[in-house]
Amino acid sequence: MRGRLLVTGASGFLGAETARLALEAGWTVIGTFRSAPSDVEDVEWRQLDVADRDAVRKLVAGARPDAVVHTATAAWRWCSASTRTVGRSYDDWRVTADGAAHVALAAADAGARLAHVSSDAMFSGRCAPYDETALPDPVNRYGAAKAAAETAVRAIAPGAAVVRTSLILGDGRSKHERHVLDLVAGRASGTLFTDELRCPVHVADLAAALLELSGGAYAGVLNVAGADALSRHELGMLIAAREGLDAALVPAGHSAELGAPRPTDTRLDIARARRVLSVRLRGAREFLAAG
Ligand SMILES: NC(=O)c1ccc[n+]([C@@H]2O[C@H](COP(=O)([O-])OP(=O)(O)OC[C@H]3O[C@@H](n4cnc5c(N)ncnc54)[C@H](OP(=O)(O)O)[C@@H]3O)[C@@H](O)[C@H]2O)c1
Repeated sequence: MRGRLLVTGASGFLGAETARLALEAGWTVIGTFRSAPSDVEDVEWRQLDVADRDAVRKLVAGARPDAVVHTATAAWRWCSASTRTVGRSYDDWRVTADGAAHVALAAADAGARLAHVSSDAMFSGRCAPYDETALPDPVNRYGAAKAAAETAVRAIAPGAAVVRTSLILGDGRSKHERHVLDLVAGRASGTLFTDELRCPVHVADLAAALLELSGGAYAGVLNVAGADALSRHELGMLIAAREGLDAALVPAGHSAELGAPRPTDTRLDIARARRVLSVRLRGAREFLAAG
């Protein structure tokens, strides 16, 4: 038995994978959801709004976790050139920033180790590649909220692992992969940008890294992303090809079309993660290879 692990946002994409792997590894898993639990069996489910400071404190104190993995984030909305919803993607400061502070405070009070999930969205993209010493220079509200969350977590829980990551994919289940299929099928409109570079990570690799960090002693920022840098459009073509679709049907565009600031080249340097983690961080070209 590895101990008790609290996963916030265990009904979400990364949280569910983390909960699944943790159960396999012998952790007792307490998982939180906002609207509904997921289908991961053997999780002790609890409803939680991380924006509610007292509720977070009460839940964490009652759960008595040895470690907390904080993945919960505000509801996500796709932003594209046609829908122009860029200002609202993950856009709830109370959940993303205040919520992270509440979780860090409660974990510290409970004496639990914390692995906090951060994002490359906190960078403008003007100074890539980014290593762990890079300071945030966000260009939108989501990036600013993730940067504020990091600052709170590092101040409250200096022993926490703060995991900066990039687009999270996995076997067709991510919203990014589903969006590509919708674009190709004409169920969604918009484009994938050729001028936004990311280091997509497989959800299983990231979840394994979070578990490793939960059971370890690493303190501070750690970049945990995929080994390959690709544009969103290149990524879309790889996803389409894996599904046996015509990659030429993936619509290309430029982020400038949105008329709203977006992070451009947010490549993350993963040299440190390669040294400190045993999990191998695959690149998208490898894990999306057709066939
Ligand atoms: N997805 C990416 O490509 C990506 C890239 C970089 C960083 N990240 C970071 O990775 C983490 C996980 O992302 P994800 O894609 O797995 O997210 P997701 O699938 O959208 O899941 C979000 C989770 O947060 C929960 N949640 C929403 N509002 C909440 C609230 N007020 N209080 C408590 N829980 C709440 C949701 O619960 P319900 O489902 O029950 O509503 C769900 O379990 C986030 O911190 C995100 O910022 C993601």
